[in-house]
Amino acid sequence: MRSASLRTSRGFESPLLRAVTGTTIRPGGLALTERGVAFCRFPSGARLLDVGCGAGATVEHLRSRYGFAAAGIDISRLLIAEGLVRNPSLPLAEGAAEALPVQGEALDGVLCECVLSILSEPLRTLAEFHRSLRPAGYLILSDMYDRGTADREQLETRLSENGFAVVLWEDHTGLLKELAARLILAGGTPAEFCCTTACTGGRPGYYLMIARKT
Ligand SMILES: C[S@@+](CC[C@H](N)C(=O)[O-])C[C@H]1O[C@@H](n2cnc3c(N)ncnc32)[C@H](O)[C@@H]1O
Repeated sequence: MRSASLRTSRGFESPLLRAVTGTTIRPGGLALTERGVAFCRFPSGARLLDVGCGAGATVEHLRSRYGFAAAGIDISRLLIAEGLVRNPSLPLAEGAAEALPVQGEALDGVLCECVLSILSEPLRTLAEFHRSLRPAGYLILSDMYDRGTADREQLETRLSENGFAVVLWEDHTGLLKELAARLILAGGTPAEFCCTTACTGGRPGYYLMIARKT
């Protein structure tokens, strides 16, 4: 399992991809994060964990702009190190989405931006999100999906089977197209970013979803 994660991480460490995406490594950047956070109306000082935080841009933003007690973990030592060089005061650590370093029900919110679809054990990760969130805590997910299949319905079913109620779903496929175009203009291909069947399949799309722990 760990080797699969490492393979996926290395793709996200690619210099070309990093040059195109900047400090965030996903379609939409911080604008989509803002949208999710605005919907949840977290109290000041809210305890948030960004799972698969990459180089920590979201954590930095949540702390500096809102004063949230935000922290991040990622499987990639290189990306965590990059974030700490940029801002040594950030609480970023190497860690796996499948085993969160959190005491039970300690978090007001979990963010998982462009990560769930690449995990080899997404159900284990959803169980970890549920264990770590306080009752009615928020899960903010953004990720790729295949608009040509029942991907969305499958995800909603998985969430509901794991103790979550979906409270927001938005399609943001335009942001995925924009990133693909920028990769092509930089001399790469969308394959630099797309490593899941959701992306190589029929109709790649991108979503923002918010769910609450029931
Ligand atoms: C598309 S990048 C998104 C990074 C970050 N969320 C962002 O939006 O900038 C996917 C991230 O998931 C991380 N990742 C992959 N497998 C992981 C795992 N099992 N546990 C934690 N992070 C993982 C990768 O290292 C990479 O940083």
